[in-house]
Amino acid sequence: MAKEIKTIGVLTSGGDAPGMNAAIRAVVREAIGKGLKVKGIKRGYAGLLAEEIVDLEAWDVSDIIQRGGTILQTARCREFMTEEGQREGAEICKKHGIDGIVVIGGDGSFRGAQKLAALGVNTIAVPGTIDLDIACTEYTIGFDTAVNTAMEAIDKVRDTSTSHERCSIIEVMGRGAGHIALWCGIANGAEDILLPEKYDYDEQKLVNNIIEKRRRGKKHHIIINAEGIGHSASMAKRIEAATGVETRATILGHMQRGGSPTCKDRVYASTMGAYAVDLMCEGKSNRVVAYRNGDYVDYDIDEALMMQKGVSEYQCQVCKNMSQ
Ligand code: ADP
Ligand code: F6P
Repeated sequence: MAKEIKTIGVLTSGGDAPGMNAAIRAVVREAIGKGLKVKGIKRGYAGLLAEEIVDLEAWDVSDIIQRGGTILQTARCREFMTEEGQREGAEICKKHGIDGIVVIGGDGSFRGAQKLAALGVNTIAVPGTIDLDIACTEYTIGFDTAVNTAMEAIDKVRDTSTSHERCSIIEVMGRGAGHIALWCGIANGAEDILLPEKYDYDEQKLVNNIIEKRRRGKKHHIIINAEGIGHSASMAKRIEAATGVETRATILGHMQRGGSPTCKDRVYASTMGAYAVDLMCEGKSNRVVAYRNGDYVDYDIDEALMMQKGVSEYQCQVCKNMSQ
């Protein structure tokens, strides 16, 4: 028989992402609307172990839907990766009367949720990461804001790159995944994109492309380099030496994780937060909320973590074909 849920916790874990606040707000208000009590757990699993747990009411999440970051703070916690830490986390939940936790974070955070579920704490995971690297879902909270932020920044670099007739290597985030790089590659009309999923380590191809485009009169050359490949500064030096074209590297960095969430991030994050609470009320556990084929759905976390995700071959080809 499904366990009756009276009190739920909510935490954010791993890298923050714009829209996490919208998800927290939705969790709190959907839960309160269903007669549940809600506790906010600060600083992810680290805050759980430190018992940084506060009661949340509907008004505690006022005025946050439009804010980047996470009002609960976030953290990475090594201790929670040990069995002892996980057991302690489950004990603390029992001590505070927390029957279930909504975990908003990336796939690392999902593994923590999986462990808590196995120890009897109902868990529902919500995908929150700018990297879009969670295989079971076509949407993750924060990606839309991050790619828009990166796109606007790259447009600006392009202006100055064109004025100076330079080559610009612009490094975007994404850890081991190239989704941000691919989307910016298309949206910013990049001449080249370097994706971890597709990289062939053939720098000579880049050099040839720059020389060929320059010969045809191109005034700029934008290379979007994914963080998973990195080394943009040394690459810029080698490319400048090989092509004779002045080359600069720009690493966009953490600015991509900040800022007010886009409409899409607010709406999807709100829907996913509410959906997580609905699953919790149905007595479900070890589930992850996903968006797939135009609908909000959920998967078993174990299955979700085994799924693989690549970049779209077709979109890579589109990006290449558009750069002439
Ligand atoms: P993200 O959730 O964005 O992928 P991380 O991979 O850094 O970020 O994971 C966030 C946190 O989730 C970790 O610091 C740790 O506390 C917890 N976590 C990650 N992997 C595991 C695991 N295998 N078991 C338990 N907890 C984990
Ligand atoms: O997972 C989100 C992300 O921003 C990645 O794109 C990046 O590799 C990582 O987090 C950076 O983490 P930190 O904030 O610890 O430097």
